[in-house]
Amino acid sequence: MSYRALVISEANNMFIKEIKQIEFQELKPDCVRIKVLYSSLNYKDALSSSGNKGVTRSYPHVPGIDAAGIIEESHSNLFKKGDEVIVTGYDLGMDTDGGFGEFIDIPANWVVKKPSSLSFKNAMLYGTAGFTAALSVKRMVDHGIKPEDGKILVTGATGGVGSIAMSILSHLGYHVVAVTGKTHLKEQLLLNGASEVIDRSDLTQLGTKMLAKPVWAAAIDTVGGEYLSSAVKSTAYNGCVTCCGNVASPDFELNVYPFILRGVTLYGIDSVQCTMPLRTKIWDLLSDGWSIVESFKTIQTVSLSEIETQIDLMLKGKHSGRTILEHHH
Ligand SMILES: NC(=O)c1ccc[n+]([C@@H]2O[C@H](COP(=O)([O-])OP(=O)(O)OC[C@H]3O[C@@H](n4cnc5c(N)ncnc54)[C@H](OP(=O)(O)O)[C@@H]3O)[C@@H](O)[C@H]2O)c1
Repeated sequence: MSYRALVISEANNMFIKEIKQIEFQELKPDCVRIKVLYSSLNYKDALSSSGNKGVTRSYPHVPGIDAAGIIEESHSNLFKKGDEVIVTGYDLGMDTDGGFGEFIDIPANWVVKKPSSLSFKNAMLYGTAGFTAALSVKRMVDHGIKPEDGKILVTGATGGVGSIAMSILSHLGYHVVAVTGKTHLKEQLLLNGASEVIDRSDLTQLGTKMLAKPVWAAAIDTVGGEYLSSAVKSTAYNGCVTCCGNVASPDFELNVYPFILRGVTLYGIDSVQCTMPLRTKIWDLLSDGWSIVESFKTIQTVSLSEIETQIDLMLKGKHSGRTILEHHH
């Protein structure tokens, strides 16, 4: 018995993507086998697919940090055959074969029951990107930032995390300023919830001094580097900035003044080891009061044979919105 998957193999320091048949292994204790109906594409999948050893140490490997599907077999009393579930984070798609395969075998304690009001496909419209966007927005809301406090900056605005963060913020009544390197996609950004669109260089100009004019009540940063430091320097008194990504750079230069003169708070966001109670809370929000599935405009659904093209676009910074992978069992 075997199933289809996108397999990344290493040969002579080159990484090759091929669709292959994989033999099922015996399911381990406390694990479940999930028939994956949908997965989605995230930046980490693009890194894993290109041989980034910080994400995936050993190859051959099946990427896919997200999965939505049905329990096929269970060796745990947490789930039974037929349960509808979502998996994001933990080691899925990193060193554990992921959702770019038609089946996954994983520890049962990584699995979340799918909220009944959320379809499998819409669960993967969100995926890790949407989950991280919601974690970031929740941090900001819990910090006490309200729509009347002022503008919210979102960087990497055409990306998965950025575009969903923008949509959720707009749905909650916030005025969103989108930062993008793709200003030609301004109309798309406005449709996904931006109230204003600025070029990346407009943000970095604010970062040239130790402290900039306070412009944002809060900022959701998804790219790191000089964009993160500029966002912190231009955030208003008692505001907050969330940091989840490193697309621009993992390093950033900053000084203490935004913290000691403005009381700005910088929050780290981690979707991978997020606790199960918070994980469940976030999925409940995404399936109910924070749902943006009706309004979100930039989604495409692709098959396993089409995902490679999207991975390459993402690595070149040319991908936008969300790509959902549909398995045809
Ligand atoms: N901490 C966590 O748990 C967690 C979870 C999910 C994702 N992440 C991280 O968050 C980041 C975003 O993930 P994603 O899935 O949204 O990726 P994505 O879909 O590839 O989006 C990234 C966006 O960043 C912008 N960008 C690309 N290259 C850039 C550069 N050199 N300088 C500045 N901006 C650049 C682009 O938007 P514009 O062209 O619109 O600027 C791009 O669309 C990644 O670093 C990812 O690893 C972290």
